[in-house]
Amino acid sequence: MTNYQAKAIQTLRNEHRTMGFLLDLLEQQVNLFKRTERPDYDLIKEVLDYFLTYPDLCHHPKEDLILRKLKVRDPEAAERVLNLEIEHDKCSERLGEFSRAVINVLLDAEISREAFIDIANQFIQGERAHMSAEEHEFFPVALRCLSEDDWLEIDEKIIRFRDPLAAEGGLRFALLQECILGQQHSRAS
Ligand SMILES: [Fe+2]
Ligand SMILES: [Fe+2]
Repeated sequence: MTNYQAKAIQTLRNEHRTMGFLLDLLEQQVNLFKRTERPDYDLIKEVLDYFLTYPDLCHHPKEDLILRKLKVRDPEAAERVLNLEIEHDKCSERLGEFSRAVINVLLDAEISREAFIDIANQFIQGERAHMSAEEHEFFPVALRCLSEDDWLEIDEKIIRFRDPLAAEGGLRFALLQECILGQQHSRAS
């Protein structure tokens, strides 16, 4: 165990808190749908867009990076923690399925109310169970087995991928926006 405060774990825990909050929002909307009231589809789409963009593409790979280091440092410990890479593939599948279900509902495609609720619940409960397993199994083992140097190396890599919803996350597509503004400026002058 190192005394170094691994920024990576703190960041991942913060991201879990954000995702947990968004899953609660999503569940409220699904409950409206269950009661045959109209949910806020814009909100649902935005939550899914966030999950597709950030947790799926950045949050999970950051955890995979820690697991790879753990496999080098303590293969037995890595063996005992949940099979993270397979779990992440399952998370992606559930997210894809739920996203397609939402689009289908919006396009009035054939999807029963029960099927939609079922797919939504599988996504919400699956994400919650996954995060809980990481918090209670994976993070403590990683903190116990990796050294301060390991964490410094990991922290340096993951700092490049910031949660767009975090206070320090910065504007999404900020660089592209800068390019577009620069191009508009040069045309005008
Ligand atoms: Fe994960
Ligand atoms: Fe996670």
